[in-house]
Amino acid sequence: MRLIGVTVCAVLRGDSENRLVRTFRPRRRKLGPELSKVYERLKDDWSIAEHGPKLDLSEVFGNGNSVCLEIGCGRGDLAVSFGPTHLDFNLIAIDIHTRGTANILQGIEKQSLTNTRVVEGDVLVLLKRFADASLTEVWVFFPDPWPKPREQRRRLIRPDVVLELARVLKVGGVLRLATDIEDYWRKSITVVAANESFDDPEFSRPDWRIETVFERRGINEGRQSVDIYWVRNSEQKLLS
Ligand SMILES: C[S@@+](CC[C@H](N)C(=O)[O-])C[C@H]1O[C@@H](n2cnc3c(N)ncnc32)[C@H](O)[C@@H]1O
Repeated sequence: MRLIGVTVCAVLRGDSENRLVRTFRPRRRKLGPELSKVYERLKDDWSIAEHGPKLDLSEVFGNGNSVCLEIGCGRGDLAVSFGPTHLDFNLIAIDIHTRGTANILQGIEKQSLTNTRVVEGDVLVLLKRFADASLTEVWVFFPDPWPKPREQRRRLIRPDVVLELARVLKVGGVLRLATDIEDYWRKSITVVAANESFDDPEFSRPDWRIETVFERRGINEGRQSVDIYWVRNSEQKLLS
């Protein structure tokens, strides 16, 4: 009964998060005792909350460097390797699951990184915290494939999300996708083209994109990864 009441209230409030089509499968996996301690010790210092007012990214990082957003950082291996080798960039890595963010927190401590932050939450919520044209790169590497036709509305590269990514990217900024699901990248090209805020796709793997366990699993199963990027152009397609 109470649950129905809460849902009705959320709908009456016009709570837009209530209408978000989820792009992930919720799962509960406990951190080991060691990682749990690291997580509890470091999360307040190096995390950004999923909810909240617009972010002042220069204040968050204490510098005016370009900011990249990694959506769905998984185990966090890329963030841990990118931070120390790109000190003139800032990186925000988000995943709904704690495991990867905890690994990144551990990496931040071990390597004394100051240019990396983590978010444990849903990127569809976090995106609202970014000002227009505030990000230099957005990475979507090996997103959950949602292969069944009725599930494809859950994909991250879909019209409403691409519209929001166009808003937060600077002109000249870059949206990157890597996937080993052919249907995913082919349909993504169509979705991004329909937005009109991006130039035609280019196919190239950045040399800093390390092979993750997830990618390795695909290769072992005979799949081939494809890297695509789109540059944000100066067309203004406004949120309706
Ligand atoms: C298939 S894994 C790939 C992980 C990593 N990028 C890699 O290449 O190994 C996709 C990840 O995206 C995360 N994810 C999916 N939707 C998300 C969302 N809306 N916000 C944050 N993370 C999300 C999932 O939790 C999962 O960890």
